[in-house]
Amino acid sequence: MDLLLSVPEFDAKMNIALTGIMGAGKSSVGSKLAKYLRRKFIDLDGYIEKQEGRTVKEIFEVEGETYFRAVEKRALNEVFSSNNLVIALGGGSIVDTNNRDLIRKRSKLITLLADIDTISDRVEHKTHRPLLKGTDQKETLINLWESRKDAYMDTDLQVSTQNRSVDGIAKFIISELNLEEIAYGRLNVEIPRSSRSYDILFDDLLKINLKKLDLGRKVLILSQVGVPDQYLNRLKSVLAHHFEVHSLILEDGEKNKDFFNYQIIVQNLLSHKFERKDTVITLGGGVIGDMGGFAASTYHRGINYIQIPTTLLSMIDSSVGGKTGVNVPEGKNLVGSFYQPNLVFIDVAHLETLPDKEFKSGLGELIKYALLGHQWDSLIVEDEDDSFFNYIDRNHKAIMSRDPETLSKIIRHCLQIKTNIVINDERESGIRMHLNLGHTFGHALEEATNYERYSHGEAVAIGIICSCYLAEQIDIFSPILTNKVIELMRSFEMEYQIPEDIDINDLITAMKHDKKVEQGQLKFILPRERIGSVSTIKDIAPKLVKKALKRNQKDLSSCNKDK
Ligand SMILES: NC(=O)c1ccc[n+]([C@@H]2O[C@H](COP(=O)([O-])OP(=O)(O)OC[C@H]3O[C@@H](n4cnc5c(N)ncnc54)[C@H](O)[C@@H]3O)[C@@H](O)[C@H]2O)c1
Repeated sequence: MDLLLSVPEFDAKMNIALTGIMGAGKSSVGSKLAKYLRRKFIDLDGYIEKQEGRTVKEIFEVEGETYFRAVEKRALNEVFSSNNLVIALGGGSIVDTNNRDLIRKRSKLITLLADIDTISDRVEHKTHRPLLKGTDQKETLINLWESRKDAYMDTDLQVSTQNRSVDGIAKFIISELNLEEIAYGRLNVEIPRSSRSYDILFDDLLKINLKKLDLGRKVLILSQVGVPDQYLNRLKSVLAHHFEVHSLILEDGEKNKDFFNYQIIVQNLLSHKFERKDTVITLGGGVIGDMGGFAASTYHRGINYIQIPTTLLSMIDSSVGGKTGVNVPEGKNLVGSFYQPNLVFIDVAHLETLPDKEFKSGLGELIKYALLGHQWDSLIVEDEDDSFFNYIDRNHKAIMSRDPETLSKIIRHCLQIKTNIVINDERESGIRMHLNLGHTFGHALEEATNYERYSHGEAVAIGIICSCYLAEQIDIFSPILTNKVIELMRSFEMEYQIPEDIDINDLITAMKHDKKVEQGQLKFILPRERIGSVSTIKDIAPKLVKKALKRNQKDLSSCNKDK
């Protein structure tokens, strides 16, 4: 009973629905599949149980099957109004032809199969199955199969689960649907109403088909002092097979993300007569990524560009989403553009050489993602009560030791969150503002210390704690949760407080330069109610902002004692 039908063209965002008799493996295979594809997984019976506040077995016992099927129909309509899900259906849900029509219209429908003896072994002693209650189990299963087999065979794909691991079945389905790239090596960013759609690749550079990307004849690789030579040399040698390759290494540091260096880039492009089809590649952290992206967006009114981020911060955040810019004396990132790259290429091996201070800077942005993304948590954790925040906490040692597998997972997860946000709000008029959690305080700290004392992510981390305090003061966040965030930062040995020598008034002055000022009023992104949820809050009294800053600074002495 292996694959019987060939699969027609598949829209990569279409739902995938799994059906089959009880015990066929719908839930376990579905949740594995969802993990690989970084999609949300819905178990339809679980969805119904949550809505009804009782188990499927109880619904059958108290209300009968007719009632259950009506509830199931309603649930199907709700669930299938969304895209991009993996759904494990109840075993009987596709018998009704209207249900089946809906499911087939809104998903790729796959039947999981196994022989009756195997199924019988799998469901033995499973007392929560209402249709098995008090009967000869095998006979019931045979009868169920006979009555439903026409429906089970009328699906897009039928897959045997016999003698196969859950992982093997999930991978088989991925390969049948041609979703390997999405599952193992690629995220796609498709900006609605824009001609830009691009991939984030996690592959080996040598395997990328650069010709397919139509990048012109010439490339300029921009890098920064501090990025090891071997990365640049390797990239050059790969590209030399296809392009006329130029490179430019710029001075390092936030202070050099300025018009002076921007002009050097543009002059270089002019002197080598770059045309619009040609390509800028940024190899380095967020500084070179932002500035190179800005140069690419303005040279000839926009040429191709590729981001190859080499810091943790740029891998999880700045390389994706198309924000480019330079700093001016009046403030950070005040001149820039929204300009999406043609490709982002991430190689976690680049992180091996990253200095500790810069690695911790990336952890600041990582904690930001843990605080804002609970709706995506199920993509990385299985249990409903678990969260990305807890996942990071549990794996903090592996993260600190830069275990490549763990880093790959968290980077992909952050990018999944960022991609979801950016495709819904490229220009930061709504939800994208949430990515600025901790940034109003953080930018002020960077500016007040002349961009010399803190890296961006370090300042953001301190800003996140100030945001927690501010949220506590307006009663939308609890001190217990703030402490959890502080504890996580401590386990990463991160600074989270404003040192005593910094004047709070300087921070308040610097905040007024923030881009989030609207009609003189600052907007803050604050954690709200739980870890994993944030809101944009306006009209906060300046004295409360000052109080949050002071509290963070004042706590310093007591907390340092514990270290
Ligand atoms: N565009 C966005 O959406 C966005 C988002 C967040 C931050 N940012 C910007 O990103 C910038 C911060 O980026 P960053 O934290 O990557 O800092 P960075 O670019 O200054 O890089 C940090 C340091 O690490 C070195 N380095 C880079 N890769 C290395 C490697 N693999 N091995 C050894 N050394 C390496 C660099 O030479 C540099 O000294 C800020 O300017 C910030 O405004 C932009």
